[in-house]
Amino acid sequence: MSVTKGLEGVVATTSSISSIIDDTLTYVGYNIDDLAENSSFEEVVYLLWNRRLPNTLELEDLKIQLAANASVPEEVLNHFKTFPIDKVHPMAALRTAVSYLGLFDEEADNATDEANLRKAIRLQAKMPTLVAAFARIRKGLEPVAPRKDLGVAANFLYMLTGEEPDSIAEEAFNKALVLHADHELNASTFTARVCVATLSDIYSGITSAIGALKGPLHGGANEQVMKMLTEIGSVENVEDYINQKLANKEKIMGFGHRVYRKGDPRAKHLKAMSEKLTKLTGEPKWYEMSVKIEDLVTNQKNIPPNVDFYSASVYHSLGIEHDLFTPIFAVSRVSGWLAHILEQYANNRLIRPRAEYNGPGMQSYVRLEDR
Ligand code: CMC
Repeated sequence: MSVTKGLEGVVATTSSISSIIDDTLTYVGYNIDDLAENSSFEEVVYLLWNRRLPNTLELEDLKIQLAANASVPEEVLNHFKTFPIDKVHPMAALRTAVSYLGLFDEEADNATDEANLRKAIRLQAKMPTLVAAFARIRKGLEPVAPRKDLGVAANFLYMLTGEEPDSIAEEAFNKALVLHADHELNASTFTARVCVATLSDIYSGITSAIGALKGPLHGGANEQVMKMLTEIGSVENVEDYINQKLANKEKIMGFGHRVYRKGDPRAKHLKAMSEKLTKLTGEPKWYEMSVKIEDLVTNQKNIPPNVDFYSASVYHSLGIEHDLFTPIFAVSRVSGWLAHILEQYANNRLIRPRAEYNGPGMQSYVRLEDR
């Protein structure tokens, strides 16, 4: 047996959902650049679940179904109120809430294809509501009910603030959702597939995936990027701060990737959005600091930024609290997780790799009283 640490380069499944080939990311063969410029998040959800773009009627139908399923049971909202709210990270709250939500789904253990698709719609529809409701409840505010006339991007921002977003915010948020929707066999997607490959239910799969996304080496990086920018504080401080970190061999959050070598194709879209939005909000320093950090890290380490780097200043410019950045990632990525879960069910085999044992050799058992 030979060990491949971190499963680097190991091909663990086939999938027709998304691909990374030569640093190009596609969803079902569509370049992410085209989708980011042209499509709505709902179109991408349809694409990931059906492996084709919807026509007008199909898209309208999906939008209607998502809007109709966006409310969450009162019990789940009340459950948030019992959390030690000032200490709980929203990702931990979301992980718990999705698991709890499953208890109220009468079809949770119905594993037919039709029931699984209905659950996928319910989960996709309710995730934004859960994140926005928790964000308000922890501030002592009442949750804002989802609106049936708004798309996913606008509805999320509306539920967060109680105000309908302007078209610039809606477009930016929609693009961020499109860019985060799927990413081949990333850690949280693999986690979801491992979980449901035991024939466990969809709620278990999504709960597991949220747990994996939470870590700072994966989705949690976007919050850490904003923490770093805030710590640095100004463009003048960037050089010393980054040089010090690199000299200490510390990682710079939002840089590097297991698969991409030349760069993450999603980053350029978020970079352009960051430039535009930070100017509009009168805080260009976040973008300027980010560009300076990118110059230093790429020049010294030749490690380019990933999706999480510029998304931090984008979300900050949209007025979103920093610890909600990773839950927003989950609001989008749940679409990909669900596509992968359905694909796993359709062609399942238990995922059970091996470990190379490196503990002690055979030992003789010594009875407790003799130790
Ligand atoms: N800053 C400084 N050095 C880095 C960084 C970084 N962000 N990323 C990798 N390196 C160095 C690392 O120190 C190592 O150097 P050496 O060979 O001298 O020890 C080398 O590059 C390889 O790093 P690795 O950690 O073994 O690479 P990996 O493929 O296991 O990890 C990664 C990939 C994304 C976890 C890593 O690049 C990282 O920790 N980045 C920071 C966290 C981050 O931004 N995560 C978001 C990932 S993309 C979106 C997502 O999936 O959520």
